Amino acid sequence: MAHKIYQELAEWYPLLTLLDDYKEEADYYHEVLSKHTSQLRPTMLELGSGAGYNAYFLKEWYDVILSDLSEICWSSAGRLIQSLEHIQGDMRELRLNLTFDVVFIHDAICYMQTEGDLRKAIATAAVHCKPGGIILISPDYVKEIFKPHTNNGGEDGNGKAMRWLEWVTGPNADGTYYVDFIIALRERSQ
Ligand SMILES: C[S@@+](CC[C@H](N)C(=O)[O-])C[C@H]1O[C@@H](n2cnc3c(N)ncnc32)[C@H](O)[C@@H]1O
Repeated sequence: MAHKIYQELAEWYPLLTLLDDYKEEADYYHEVLSKHTSQLRPTMLELGSGAGYNAYFLKEWYDVILSDLSEICWSSAGRLIQSLEHIQGDMRELRLNLTFDVVFIHDAICYMQTEGDLRKAIATAAVHCKPGGIILISPDYVKEIFKPHTNNGGEDGNGKAMRWLEWVTGPNADGTYYVDFIIALRERSQ
């Protein structure tokens, strides 16, 4: 289901979260990164960029290239960032033969469900990072502060509405956790 929302349900993606909800977070990432970058406009590769909500704000300061497994960046959800280059690819395997001042992986890192996949994603980040550059990885949760919980949200759009319930359980014995999403979609014909 998680991948459905990035593929055949991508048209609904803007109703999952609002773009403005990402501004504060993107400002924080810039604050952290700017302490360690000296370039005027550092280059940035985002792996697993989704519709690019963070990138929408980060592009004010960085020359950003987006990369994602699914086509969400090319769908209507991604229209707001059509000015940025998008490359379709799996963060476990992508090799662009380019290096960047910053390699950023936001919540998409949570899709690395095994230690092997996580290692591959980090290796991809490392080969695309310039010597002395920065890799910033920002998972939804870290082990030390993980707690099972529920969360809900959703937005009304033009003739469409979504409500979602996120149910986070675990941790499992191997350190993984589950996220179950229940998504209700309402569409009006007039
Ligand atoms: C929650 S979205 C990312 C949203 C993004 N952080 C933003 O600021 O808008 C998670 C993304 O991870 C992508 N993803 C999942 N597995 C991936 C993989 N192996 N390689 C690249 N992208 C992946 C999904 O296609 C989805 O677009």
